[in-house]
Amino acid sequence: MAESLFVPENSSRKEIYDSLIPQIEALVSGEDDFIANLSNIAAALKQTFNFFWVGFYLRKNNQLVLGPFQGSIACTRIDFDKGVCGHAYTTQQTVLVPDVDAFPGHIACASESRSEIVLPAFDVNQEVFLVLDVDSNKLDDFHEEDREGLEKLMRIIEKLARTNY
Ligand code: SME
Repeated sequence: MAESLFVPENSSRKEIYDSLIPQIEALVSGEDDFIANLSNIAAALKQTFNFFWVGFYLRKNNQLVLGPFQGSIACTRIDFDKGVCGHAYTTQQTVLVPDVDAFPGHIACASESRSEIVLPAFDVNQEVFLVLDVDSNKLDDFHEEDREGLEKLMRIIEKLARTNY
């Protein structure tokens, strides 16, 4: 297992994702505990980009329930039709929110959060089984390169889940 992450300096976010994602793949290969791997993925994103909050909500019965995360304490349960996470769950699409105050129904777990991206991961039945929520304390902090980089990560998470969740 890789014990540290190499992050190229003075690079664009796209270049950082391009460098980080293979390192995350190496980090999770060889470990078959899904929750341990989600925990390290959350840490790798937080450590690399210093985002305000990075974490997973997992589908359990009829709610999204807080999973591995990095950042301040957060709401533990989100209904499928609530917040940005619920919106990503029900629409089955990545949701990019440049200004959380302008998103109707945004759930403010922390007042510092200003912008947010939430991405779904799909199980073998093509149903969303978890979402990744990344929050920034800067307005309009997430763009296409984040969507592309993080969507690649979601495909890695789906593969992990197929064998170990
Ligand atoms: N803001 C999210 C809730 C989760 S916290 O930000 C960690 C939402 O509106 O779904």
